[in-house]
Amino acid sequence: MSKIQRIGVLTGGGDCPGLNAVLRGLVKTAAYDHDIQVVGFLDGFAGVLKDRTMRLDGDTVSGILQRGGTILGSSNRDNPFRVPVQVEGERKFEDRSEEAMRIFDRYGLQLLVVVGGDGSLSIALELARKGMPVIGIPKTIDNDLAATDVSFGFDTALTTATEALDKLHTTAQSHHRIMVLEVMGRYAGWIALEAGVAGGGDVILVPEIPFRIESVVGAIKERTFRGRTFTLIVIAEGAKAEGGEVVVSKVVADSTDSIRLGGVGHWLAAELEQRLEREVRVTVLGHLQRGGTPTAFDRILGTRYGVHAAHCAAEGRKEIMVSLQGTEVTEVPLADAVREPRRVAPDSQIVRAARSVGTRFGDE
Ligand code: F6P
Repeated sequence: MSKIQRIGVLTGGGDCPGLNAVLRGLVKTAAYDHDIQVVGFLDGFAGVLKDRTMRLDGDTVSGILQRGGTILGSSNRDNPFRVPVQVEGERKFEDRSEEAMRIFDRYGLQLLVVVGGDGSLSIALELARKGMPVIGIPKTIDNDLAATDVSFGFDTALTTATEALDKLHTTAQSHHRIMVLEVMGRYAGWIALEAGVAGGGDVILVPEIPFRIESVVGAIKERTFRGRTFTLIVIAEGAKAEGGEVVVSKVVADSTDSIRLGGVGHWLAAELEQRLEREVRVTVLGHLQRGGTPTAFDRILGTRYGVHAAHCAAEGRKEIMVSLQGTEVTEVPLADAVREPRRVAPDSQIVRAARSVGTRFGDE
C-alpha cells in the first residue's frame, strides 16, 4: 500500500453541533501526525458534483471547536446517484456517480471521509462499491445510526430539548396547563425519551410505542385527580397513534429522504382539547435542536471520532465507520452502520425506569 498523502472530507445531511470538532480533530491529526493533506468538499455531495472545495489545514480549523454548524456547509438533497434533471419538461433523475469518481481522482485523493447520517453514509457505501475508498463518521441528532452507541450531535440536541422542558415546566405550573413539546428524531424516539426522562415529562410519546389518545387523556385525568394541575407531554415528530400514520409536514422530492415529519404535536393538542375541554399549548422545538454551541460531550466525541478517522486513514483502512462502543472509539464495517436504524426498544431499561417514576407512554 502506498503512503496516504491526500484525502477528502465532506459533511452531509442535516447539520448538527460537533461537526467542526470532527473536522478539527481529523485535519489536525492528518496534518500533524501523518503529514496527510485534506481537501474539504463544500455543501456535502453537492461539492463533489459541482467541484467546489476548500483546502483544510491546521490554520483553517483552528478556533472552530466550539462553533455549531459546519465550516464546510452541508446538504441533505444532493446524491450523486440521483441528480434531478429536466428532460422534455419532465423531472427525472440521473446517475452522475462516474462524475463524482472523476472529480475525486482529479484531486489525487486516496480516500473520502464522509461525516453523515444514514443517508450520506448509504451514498458513501455505494461509492465504496464503485471503488472509492471511504471512511464514515456517525453524525445525527436523532441518534438512530446502528453500529455505534452514540452519534455526536445527539447530546446537544438532548440538552436543548431538556432545557425547553425545564422552561415549559415553570409556565405550565403557573397556568395549570397541558403543554406539548414536539421534538425531532425522525422515526426514532431517542430525543423525546431521554429529554422526557431528564426533564420530568409526564407523558412521553415515541414512534416505537404507538399510543392511544384515551390513554393520554387518562394520564392527564389521573394527574388532576392526584392534585397535579399541569401536565407536560413530550412527543417525537415520528410518534403515531395505534393504527394511525405519522404526520408529514412536507415532501421534498429530491432529498435523500423526501419525507419531512412535523405537526403531530398540534394534532395531539386538538385531539386532547376536544376530549378534555381544556386548552392545550404546543411548542415545536424544530431546528433549535440542530443549532448552537456543542456540549462538552459532543466536542469530545467529535474530536475523538475525527482523530480516530485520521489514524484509520493513515493505516489505509476503508469501508469502515468509526464508532463508539462503550467507552472506546473503534471501527465497524460501513455496511453495518446503514443496515437498520437504531431505535428505542420498548422494554429497554430506560423505558422501564421512566415507567417506574410514573411517566406514561400512552400505551397503558
Ligand atoms: O435527521 C436530522 C433531522 O433534524 C431530523 O430530526 C428531522 O426530521 C430532519 O432532520 C429535518 O430536516 P430539514 O432540516 O430538512 O428540515
